[in-house]
Amino acid sequence: MSDIIEFTPKQIVEELDKYVIGQDKAKRSVAIALRNRWRRKQVPDALREEIYPNNIILIGPTGVGKTEIARRLSRLANAPFVKIEATKFTEVGYVGRDVESMIRDLCDLSVSMVRSEKTKEVEALATKHAEERLLELLLPPSPNKRRKVMLEEDDDSGADDAEDRYKRTRDKLKKQLENGELEERQVELDVQAEQSSLMQIISPMGVEEMGVNVQDLLGGMMPKKTKLRKMTVSEARNYLIQEEAQKLIDMEQVVQEAIERVENSGIIFLDEIDKIAGEGEKSGPDVSRQGVQRDLLPVVEGTSVFTKYGMVKTDHVLFIASGAFHVAKPSDLIPELQGRFPIRVELHSLTAEDFFRILTEPKNALTKQYIALFETENVKLDFTEEAVQEVANIANSVNERTENIGARRLHTVLTALLEDYLFEVPDTKLKKISITRKIVQERLSNIVKDEDLSRYIL
Ligand SMILES: Nc1ncnc2c1ncn2[C@@H]1O[C@H](COP(=O)(O)OP(=O)(O)OP(=O)(O)O)[C@@H](O)[C@H]1O
Ligand SMILES: [Mg+2]
Repeated sequence: MSDIIEFTPKQIVEELDKYVIGQDKAKRSVAIALRNRWRRKQVPDALREEIYPNNIILIGPTGVGKTEIARRLSRLANAPFVKIEATKFTEVGYVGRDVESMIRDLCDLSVSMVRSEKTKEVEALATKHAEERLLELLLPPSPNKRRKVMLEEDDDSGADDAEDRYKRTRDKLKKQLENGELEERQVELDVQAEQSSLMQIISPMGVEEMGVNVQDLLGGMMPKKTKLRKMTVSEARNYLIQEEAQKLIDMEQVVQEAIERVENSGIIFLDEIDKIAGEGEKSGPDVSRQGVQRDLLPVVEGTSVFTKYGMVKTDHVLFIASGAFHVAKPSDLIPELQGRFPIRVELHSLTAEDFFRILTEPKNALTKQYIALFETENVKLDFTEEAVQEVANIANSVNERTENIGARRLHTVLTALLEDYLFEVPDTKLKKISITRKIVQERLSNIVKDEDLSRYIL
């Protein structure tokens, strides 16, 4: 079972380093939290139940990598992971979206994760079955069996002949099929008819909140509709592989494993938690904020949530919360909830040096993205080091003088810088664009000087 990674904290940090610059403390604590999931699995049963996750609050200004760390961690963890805005639960008119729904989301995700893993496991066998069925579609089974009954009295040399011929044709077709010579040939296939439109009408909004899947309920009651469709052999193969894989997978086992994964390695990232930390018990939204905190409490503390897959225990789900905490402080959360998030990590605001590294180092660095985009137009884009330095400085100074939106500023500065090229390049014969410091200054200095302009454009 590959449900928990075996990376050491150091390796986890190294992986995160590929995408997130700096913020070492935050990376360390999420790495420890993730490793603790693995450690807990090795502990003897009785004690294991006693080891609760140390939930984390990431505190830091906007655009410094909080969500990015969580997002990268989730890919790494190969654990069911959902990211939810805490404010979602305070939205006025958001009827029926209760806090427990995040556990249901986590379960759905886990089930589809496990199912696709299992599908991969049976893929070879499913493909084999699919090939056999394809052959049957191309050449319906031997008529011989029927003939044999009729011809019982006769000498059955005729039947043998027919059988031989059938076998030969079948072998020939099989070869052709294997060699990919029949891919474009049309076959007719029974496919499941779509029923979803009907289901949408029947199922009232919010029913899924009860954890009941109307589609499953009614789907079972209604006769399965199939319809004959024409498609090419290659389309049919894909369809049949899916269908055969479904037959080979034991859904009960999938669900069981998926639930086990949610309960032992699930991670929930609760974004914007500061926004539900109201000060005192005022009127209006603050009341509902505290309400959301109270709703959250049992889920974070450990409770059983009713889902369409059965009861799911949340005791060992790891929660990573995050927020800017500009106005509210972690101490403004209700005490019980504070106690459930014992680890607080601060992320620092980013400097011009950080920006330089963010622009160039991560695997998905913005300059790399633009270089790839221009490559599609057969244009070689490059940035001199001083140019990148200049972009970093500009982003930093605009952040200082207007609003500090962290690394998000890099997006706006770079798009402003490259806009003309992005627009014009397909119609020019340019093969190479080299962005120098001079170009950066020429294109951006006017905007940067004018504070009002920067507010709008950068
Ligand atoms: N330290 C960093 N290293 C690399 N990229 C970063 C870093 N910080 C932010 N970014 C980039 O900036 C963008 C915004 O970052 P992110 O979504 O993590 O912000 P956040 O801290 O969650 O802010 P908010 O409080 O507004 O949610 C992302 O596209 C991310 O790639
Ligand atoms: Mg965020």
